[in-house]
Amino acid sequence: MSNYIHGSEPVEQARLSKLNDLINDRCLNLLTISTGDNILDVGSGLGQFTLRMAEQAGPTGKCLGIERDKKQLTASIQNQHVRQFSWVEFREGNAENLELSQAEWGSFDLAHARFILEHVRSPESIMSGMVKAVRSGGRVVVEDDDHAQMCLHPNPPGFLTLWNAYMRSYDRLGNDPHIGRRLVSLLYDTGLRNIRNNVVFFGDSGESPTFKAYVTNLIGILEGARELMLQQALIDKISFQSAVNHLEEWAKNPEAALWYTINWAAGTKP
Ligand SMILES: C[S@@+](CC[C@H](N)C(=O)[O-])C[C@H]1O[C@@H](n2cnc3c(N)ncnc32)[C@H](O)[C@@H]1O
Repeated sequence: MSNYIHGSEPVEQARLSKLNDLINDRCLNLLTISTGDNILDVGSGLGQFTLRMAEQAGPTGKCLGIERDKKQLTASIQNQHVRQFSWVEFREGNAENLELSQAEWGSFDLAHARFILEHVRSPESIMSGMVKAVRSGGRVVVEDDDHAQMCLHPNPPGFLTLWNAYMRSYDRLGNDPHIGRRLVSLLYDTGLRNIRNNVVFFGDSGESPTFKAYVTNLIGILEGARELMLQQALIDKISFQSAVNHLEEWAKNPEAALWYTINWAAGTKP
């Protein structure tokens, strides 16, 4: 059963694609990929970031994206055809029970996962698959949210109530809305060492040309979880709509600021 809160309808795919446009350069800067790297991307979504990593590895490298959702997988294969990167493969698979060929286990220089640990009941099972997939000396890099870090100023009326309801919708599914703060311990507990952590800035301010896109992303994830939040009585319809209306008004304020970060951690397999 999928615990994936966002789904894969066209409106959600458009949101995920735009989100990639906003953050991929920053995420790539932290990764230090070498020419010829053999890379595994777990929960590859639309494949945009997989393709960016593949671009850095170049045709002497290899890149494998694993994705469970058929619509996301189809979109990633289409994206690959546009880029014509013959050294990239997108494959259907369940990250919680990773299946690779005998030759692939222990062969990757880098196993990467972004925004997937927050959507599963057992992040540990994803971690152990990733660790098994990399060679000795290879790296595992995970990037994920700690939703408690979301901070808007000035605070739009009703937003905190709505954001709390959104976070609760994660644990109702058995997912951890604060997984980002656990990344280092997840890496350590899976046997990785030389662990380092960092953050990717995911905020913006009212006068910035990209500010509207950040707010649209924020409203998009809230709208996507609306039915679940209402069903679970985490918020009522009127409070939901009123908070979203206030958020839209707030986005017009040149003094508005959105402070948010993506947690990032990397470890090496001994
Ligand atoms: C928020 S998207 C992120 C996609 C991509 N990593 C990125 O950063 O753009 C999460 C993706 O993980 C996929 N996913 C969720 N659970 C999965 C699982 N157990 N196995 C494989 N993919 C999964 C979803 O279908 C979705 O495409």
